[in-house]
Parts: sequence; structure tokens; C-alpha cells
Amino acid sequence: MLQNTWNTTLYEGKHAFVWQYGEDLLNLLSPQPGEKILDVGCGTGQLAAKIADMGAIVTGIDASAAMVEKAKLNYPNLEFTVADARSFQFDTEFDAVFSNATLHWIPEAVDVINSIHRLLKPRGRFVAEFGGKGNVKLITDALYQASEIKSPLSWYFPSIGEYTTLLEKQGFDVSYAVLFDRPTLLPDGEAGLRNWLTMFATRFFANSTQQEREEVIQAVEQQLKPILFKNGTWTADYRRLRIIAVRES
Ligand code: BEZ
Repeated sequence: MLQNTWNTTLYEGKHAFVWQYGEDLLNLLSPQPGEKILDVGCGTGQLAAKIADMGAIVTGIDASAAMVEKAKLNYPNLEFTVADARSFQFDTEFDAVFSNATLHWIPEAVDVINSIHRLLKPRGRFVAEFGGKGNVKLITDALYQASEIKSPLSWYFPSIGEYTTLLEKQGFDVSYAVLFDRPTLLPDGEAGLRNWLTMFATRFFANSTQQEREEVIQAVEQQLKPILFKNGTWTADYRRLRIIAVRES
């Protein structure tokens, strides 16, 4: 897996929507007091803290050491660990695995699903939301059009059919799957799309000079302004895939 280098200040300052939208997903998770819940891709810990507030015993994992360090600072009473979602191991089993806005970073979906399946108790639930088929398509198309450097974006946006098939092959019973448009307002006015690209398209720009990156960002802004910039605010064309799957016993 290619690593994204996360800027935790930019993440918490300008991208709070990542976990604010995720709060809705907690209703689907419905954590019960005393349940052991694993949060895969916990970021700086906000949703893990909400799960703990509901009485569950939560462990957060993230591939980014910077995110985990910040999560520990934010919530010193909770447990956070650096781990790779494709291969993590624990010496305990969980009642539920939760993941918000993470799985689109990991194209090796089969490995992730295997890891989750291994750690769940029989009848344990997997509740996740991430980018689905067609997610940020306008932005992606504009990026490729604007850039001569065709670096891969390495994002994973599966369809319902593709992802639920992988889950069923691994021994999950999928009880809920929905793919929906969720236009997402980007904070910070004119700078919203630029901030988003700086935060999330780091792999795309990995081999670009500062000047090349600046030119591409300006071209993307110019192309998308008539479509995605309204009343002083940028909107990203998010499409989310939401899943509830239960480990068959
Ligand atoms: C998303 O949350 O949909 C997303 C995040 C980073 C890159 C692409 C999409």
C-alpha cells in the first residue's frame, strides 16, 4: 500500500467533515455498552471517542503514525495503535469492526476483508462507509486532464456488486448496501478545493515540482469552477458506499 503522508493540522482544521459525516454511520453501528469495537482508520480519534461515549470498549487503528500520535493526545484514555488494515492482528476478538472514510485508500480489499473477518466474533458485524463507484469523478477527470504526469491516484471506489461479492466470498452475510451521492461542502471558501487536493491527492503529486502542482491545481479550479463552486463554496462530488455485513458463524 502506498502511504499517504498526513498533515494532522490540515486534517483537523479543514477536513472535520470527514468525521462529522461519519457520525451518521454510528447509528448503523449502534454500539452497545461493553461491546469490543475496532475502528479501522481512526484518524485523530473523534469517532472512536463517540463510540466510547456510548459505552463500548474501543480500539482505534490507523496506518499513519502521525494520526495515531494525535489521537492519543486528543483522547489519552482510549487505545490507539499504528497498524496496517491489510494484515493487522490482535489477541482478542471484536463484536464489531467500524470504518469510516478509510477503505478507499486501500486497493487490496481482499486482504482488508480477510483481516476484518479473522478478528470478528461469529455474528460480529462490519459497518463501513467509504468512496464508492463514481466517487469524486469530476475532480479525478479534471486532474488527469490538467496534468501531463499521469501518476496513479490509487483510490479504490468499488460498486455495490463488486464489494458485496468480495464480502460474501469471505463468509460475510451482507444485510445492507447502498451507494449514494453525497455532495460535500469544502470549508474555506475559494481555497476549499485547493486544500482538498493538497490533503488528499498527495500521491498524485508525489513526483511533481511545486510549480507543476500549482499549475495543475489552478487548471483544475478553472475547469471545475462553473460546476462545483457556488455561492463562495466548493462542493466535492462524493459518492459513498455504505455496508453492514455480519460474519457468518
Ligand atoms: C473520500 O472521502 O471520498 C475521498 C477521500 C480521499 C480521496 C478521495 C476520496
